[in-house]
Amino acid sequence: MSDTQVFFDHINKGYQTKGEAITLGAAMLDGETITNALVKVPMKTLNRHGLIAGATGTGKTKTLQVLAENLSDQGVPVLLMDMKGDLSGIAQPSPGHPKIDERHEKIGIPFEAKKFPVEILTLSEQEGVRLRATVSEFGPVLISRILDVSETQAGILSILFKYCDDNKLPLLDLKDLKKILQYATEEGKEEISKLYGRISPASSGAILRRIVELEQQGGDLFFGERSFDTDDLLRVDENGRGYINIVRLTDIQDRPKLFSTFMLCLLAEIYATFPEQGDTGRPELVIFIDEAHLIFKEASDALLDQIESIVKLIRSKGVGLYFVTQNPTDVPDAVLSQLGLKIQHALRAFTAKDRKAIKLTAENYPLSDFYETDEVLTSLGIGEALISALNEKGIPTPLAATLLRAPMSRMDILEAEELEDVLAASKLKDRYNEALDRESAYELLNEKIEKAHLEEAKAKAAKEKKKAQRSSSRRSTSSRRRTTRSPLEKVLTSPTVIRSVLGILTKLIK
Ligand SMILES: Nc1ncnc2c1ncn2[C@@H]1O[C@H](COP(=O)(O)OP(=O)(O)OP(=O)(O)O)[C@@H](O)[C@H]1O
Ligand SMILES: [Mg+2]
Repeated sequence: MSDTQVFFDHINKGYQTKGEAITLGAAMLDGETITNALVKVPMKTLNRHGLIAGATGTGKTKTLQVLAENLSDQGVPVLLMDMKGDLSGIAQPSPGHPKIDERHEKIGIPFEAKKFPVEILTLSEQEGVRLRATVSEFGPVLISRILDVSETQAGILSILFKYCDDNKLPLLDLKDLKKILQYATEEGKEEISKLYGRISPASSGAILRRIVELEQQGGDLFFGERSFDTDDLLRVDENGRGYINIVRLTDIQDRPKLFSTFMLCLLAEIYATFPEQGDTGRPELVIFIDEAHLIFKEASDALLDQIESIVKLIRSKGVGLYFVTQNPTDVPDAVLSQLGLKIQHALRAFTAKDRKAIKLTAENYPLSDFYETDEVLTSLGIGEALISALNEKGIPTPLAATLLRAPMSRMDILEAEELEDVLAASKLKDRYNEALDRESAYELLNEKIEKAHLEEAKAKAAKEKKKAQRSSSRRSTSSRRRTTRSPLEKVLTSPTVIRSVLGILTKLIK
């Protein structure tokens, strides 16, 4: 048997599937594509998370597009974090290209141009369905992690959340949170300290500064109503194809804190609301995070811990998470160790450090009789990648250098008009983009403070009035008495005596 035949059998056996699967391309040996040696990932293991890595321009984003399209085609909804704005083309069919036909001929599967059902979401004021969450939904623990505050300060936040809960003061946005912090050390100081203990102005000041920092990154846009219902990510169109929900994040690249906050909130919300999944044979939702280094960059240790544990837990809800980044080392080890599918595009060896990174990456892939992994890593072409997946039994598949199929939709962004069409067709836009300004902690506390001020002013005015009345009646009696005041009386009413008597009185009271 020829080497090629042995390799062909090796791949076909290793990538055999009984249930539904996604075909990614055909395996390559010595730089040649082996037609029909198909590399397939079973649907069943797609909730086991994954990584798409490789140097710039090697095809990571297109691989993401291929996976998203094929999931949608099989009825699985997808959520894409579009950092560079180059994914919206999924809503239009590919115009085709002779090179694409040639690619598919080599692979052994026909090329079909198609468009997919797309919903455009946004975190900011860009056009699209607004993604928002309320401060209450985050809860004190998550908010503390996001703000990266000390234990004591986290304790204060818990107290304030409880106070707001007990007093029916909804915490919707950051304005509400700032207001309650300020209230706790000013007007509401006595009330709150009586119930829960004193809150130091220094601690509340420190928390306030963290909130302002988050606001400067645009956090105020993200917190508020109407909060997004994660079930809306699970829609399927009339033809049974999963919606591809694209979050436009082009204006968020320089605001990593906001991005990690958003990701953590979204994952926590999904974890809290999705039901536990049995073995359904397919994921409920697959999330792709392009330029994933951004969520880990500048994330505090507390936030990283939280992300790591959610990544671990969310799998049981049938949610697959795919990180797309240039270097696998951008992703923390604790997350890397949980990944089932690894798609490694070419790496470039310019420096000694690069060569070291390549060796390290190669060591993290299964051994193969057919490849020198580190050599393959540097010689892969564009739209080619080393793949290692999990088979239906959860066992790693053989390592395969793969010529990847081309996306069925357009590999480019939508024109302004095309984008308008997608937005106009949105069934979610009206519900989430309606401006809501429900009465929340900010307004209610202001009202309370105002009321207290009013009452205080009223009481003061009443007191003054009484005092004025008293002194005018006293004035009339004293003027009557003045003529008859004895010398003793004069001494007793002298300011010095009055002051000293008052001194005794106050001592007695104490
Ligand atoms: N599977 C594929 N089929 C056909 N062409 C591809 C494929 N993958 C990549 N290409 C070609 O390579 C180009 C670059 O791919 P892509 O944008 O996915 O790279 P990238 O790794 O995401 O780059 P960056 O790191 O800059 O984001 C594409 O515009 C396309 O022309
Ligand atoms: Mg890219």
